Amino acid sequence: MQKNAVSSSEHSKVLTLDTMNPNIRTMEYAVRGAIPIRAEELTAQLKAQPDSLLFKKVTPCNIGNPQQLQQKPLTFLRQVSALIEYTDLLEPPLIETTQKLFPEDAIARAKRNLSFVNNAAGAYTQSLGIPEIRQNVAQFIEQRDGYPADPNNICLTTGASGAVERVLDMLISSPNVGIMIPIPQYPLYTATLAHLNAHAVPYYLQEEKDWQLSIPDLQRSLAEARARGIDVRAMAVINPGNPTGGCLLESNIVDIVQFCEQERLVILADEVYQTNIYTETNPFVSFKKVVSKLGSQVELFSFHSISKGMVGECGRRGGYYEAVNIDEQIMGQLLKLASVGLCPNVQGQMAVDIMVNPPQPGDASYELYRREMDDIHQSMKRRAKKLAAAFNLLPNMSCNDTQGAMYLFPRVVLPQAFVDEAKALGQEPDALYCMQMLESTGISVVPGSGFGQVPGTFHFRSTFLPPEELFDEFIAGFKSFHIALIDRYSKA
Ligand SMILES: Cc1ncc(COP(=O)(O)O)c(C=O)c1O
Repeated sequence: MQKNAVSSSEHSKVLTLDTMNPNIRTMEYAVRGAIPIRAEELTAQLKAQPDSLLFKKVTPCNIGNPQQLQQKPLTFLRQVSALIEYTDLLEPPLIETTQKLFPEDAIARAKRNLSFVNNAAGAYTQSLGIPEIRQNVAQFIEQRDGYPADPNNICLTTGASGAVERVLDMLISSPNVGIMIPIPQYPLYTATLAHLNAHAVPYYLQEEKDWQLSIPDLQRSLAEARARGIDVRAMAVINPGNPTGGCLLESNIVDIVQFCEQERLVILADEVYQTNIYTETNPFVSFKKVVSKLGSQVELFSFHSISKGMVGECGRRGGYYEAVNIDEQIMGQLLKLASVGLCPNVQGQMAVDIMVNPPQPGDASYELYRREMDDIHQSMKRRAKKLAAAFNLLPNMSCNDTQGAMYLFPRVVLPQAFVDEAKALGQEPDALYCMQMLESTGISVVPGSGFGQVPGTFHFRSTFLPPEELFDEFIAGFKSFHIALIDRYSKA
């Protein structure tokens, strides 16, 4: 035995909960928290013993993961991706078969996009992303908003999450820095702020006003944080909203831009749901458009992704940010940060290209692409309306109609006896409600406490992504659970 060797029984771990980065230990991420973990256990149990539970399958409504719930991928995107992956299909002898199987514009697009990377889809690309694709993103933004966009301000990323994390990392120079975040919010923000050891400065969305922002509330929240000595530097806005499904009116965005400009706050506009829009009263208006229209000098980062919308390719991890009015030297630092990560994954970049530059009228794939997009959009709209209507018919429950995104965030008035029972168990009442929903129906949703909510109110977030043909069954299962629970505890 070596002189200093330690026997295995004496060997203690270097890396433990006590020695690890405490910022990671405090991070929370409800969307993949206790309830989805239990949902995975139940799924495994049903696989092994199909009749062992009160339900036959687990319905994952906890996360905006459309293809997990059978949303069909867009054919053109998959055709181009397949050809980019297996380039032999574009060369003799296979090209003859390929021409019979694939439309000509998919073949042309695959060849063109491969030329951006010298035919090497497995090689690193430029750290900010493939220049031609950044150019296409800029064109897409120009067409969307009617104002110029500069490809040098576009950076392709590994999903919008990678982009948000990078920008927050750039902003947070000390533990004293604070970032304003909406409540309720998508927990990427609180989790990243905990990781980076910065302050989350909450502002409330107004449930009674379809989740619009109140400028006096923003002012109050900012003043309170500054009075505590917090160096508040930026404000995150999620539009359309997750978990709320609200979509901001242009007038509200104008007020927010002016507020941020006056208060010297950088705007972080999370716009990943910009094509998930279901009402004419609240169309999507980008922060970039409002900033351009006002000629504002406010600093803005806006984020978009292939994960949502009708594209729904969240596992491919593609996204981008556009930086507007950002200091030139900071742009250099952002490039350095991107370079440390080498590059965003290539298939994600290629999918961004298709999202921003889809088949055009006259192209072989145009009709099919449009039809697939419309079908998914219309079906989401129907499901959103149906689920909100079903929630609104139930006792002790109210729900704003969704205007955008993929979620409903109904409010549940829980009987006092239930709230007391949860507290006695040391649990958040809405977390107990959601766990009981899962155990009795197989439906997995996320408690409002995972996103933040006005104290004393209870909510949960549900996607409306289950397939349309299973929707009645899904609603019926939820309804009988809720009514039975309210009945039981109202009598208690
Ligand atoms: C508001 C919001 N921002 C960002 C993301 C992350 O998107 P991505 O998959 O592009 O990282 C999500 C994912 O659900 C989201 O809801």
